[in-house]
Amino acid sequence: MTVALGCDHAGFDLKEKIKKHLETNNIAVKDFGTYSSESTDYAIYAAKVGHAVAEGETDLGILCCGTGMGISIAANKVKGVRAACCYSSEIAVLSRTHNDANVLALGSRFIDHDQALTIVDTFISTKFSGEERHIKRINQITDIENGKL
Ligand code: RB5
Repeated sequence: MTVALGCDHAGFDLKEKIKKHLETNNIAVKDFGTYSSESTDYAIYAAKVGHAVAEGETDLGILCCGTGMGISIAANKVKGVRAACCYSSEIAVLSRTHNDANVLALGSRFIDHDQALTIVDTFISTKFSGEERHIKRINQITDIENGKL
């Protein structure tokens, strides 16, 4: 399993913590930046991580910004990305089992960073349920991307 990581300045500390955590647990990461707390723009890193996931360079992606909102909205503009902004492990489970989310977005300024690690572990260890009704709904999302819905 390889995980793409990305963040803006507001998510930098959390991204570094997640990176260390994943590496300690022998999970390969590709760090797409940013690499400091200097002010930058979240869409840049959302695009890098989104393309890495959509093009199969990594299995999953994790993005951090201040709220998790801007960076998830931006990542969801990349075809094939289903980014879920999660504030609890329960939502992380549902985002994988129901939505087959392939990118986790976290709000660094509004979440306890230790809890964020639990959400990360939950997200990457939970599989899509594969149930018919969820496949149908995900296919409808793809239809929107392709201008068919
Ligand atoms: C940056 O100050 C902040 O706006 C950004 O990290 C994020 O919260 C946007 O959605």
